[in-house]
Amino acid sequence: MKLFIDSANLADIEAALQRGVVRGVTTNPSIMAKDQGSIEDIIRLLRRYGDTIPLSVEVTETETEAMFKQAMRFVDYRYNPIVIKVPIGWNELQVVYRLRTDIRRIQVNVTACMSYNQAIMAANARANYVSLFWGRIRDTGQDAATVVRQVRETFDRWKCPTEIIVGSIRQMIDVNEAIQAGADIVTVPPKFLPLLCQHPKTDEAVSQFLRDAVLAH
Ligand code: E4P
Repeated sequence: MKLFIDSANLADIEAALQRGVVRGVTTNPSIMAKDQGSIEDIIRLLRRYGDTIPLSVEVTETETEAMFKQAMRFVDYRYNPIVIKVPIGWNELQVVYRLRTDIRRIQVNVTACMSYNQAIMAANARANYVSLFWGRIRDTGQDAATVVRQVRETFDRWKCPTEIIVGSIRQMIDVNEAIQAGADIVTVPPKFLPLLCQHPKTDEAVSQFLRDAVLAH
């Protein structure tokens, strides 16, 4: 079980890295626009933390050749753990397979998956990661936990190396449920990370200890 951070905000990424709580970074075009993130700046930051942290960056081209060329421009940043995010789709899988079988064995995260069958197709195209969108699956009235559990069971049965990332986290409980459903990785928006280590009873206990420590002197 690993946590990634779903962000392009340098301060948020660094705060998470300083605490050792995330092992990777995911972005998408909406996050890049909202956080005004630049791939170069994120890579510069990640290099300071050891050069091994996977960074998912999404293609925005829609035609296969253009998509492949854009992916190669990301590879040209020469950050080895860069992961090309490609949305699931029939034409898109051609790009996924081409990147995976390229001499450089480029890592791919097949994103925007909402269903069991999409995850299976992505894994067959040799995706390193398949991103299932928890919140958006639930928006359709589907049970996201069931989808994740079914993909987990199938990947385990066939010893499939593709890792399941759960994204589209909307509330703290989604993180817990996604892990319990069998996600390898949950990618968490930064605002939830501090909250995940808080509890009102912890505050109460620590305040009591501090009061008692004063009394003891
Ligand atoms: C995952 O990798 C995606 O970046 C992200 O979690 C998408 O979720 P959302 O657009 O539903 O918030």
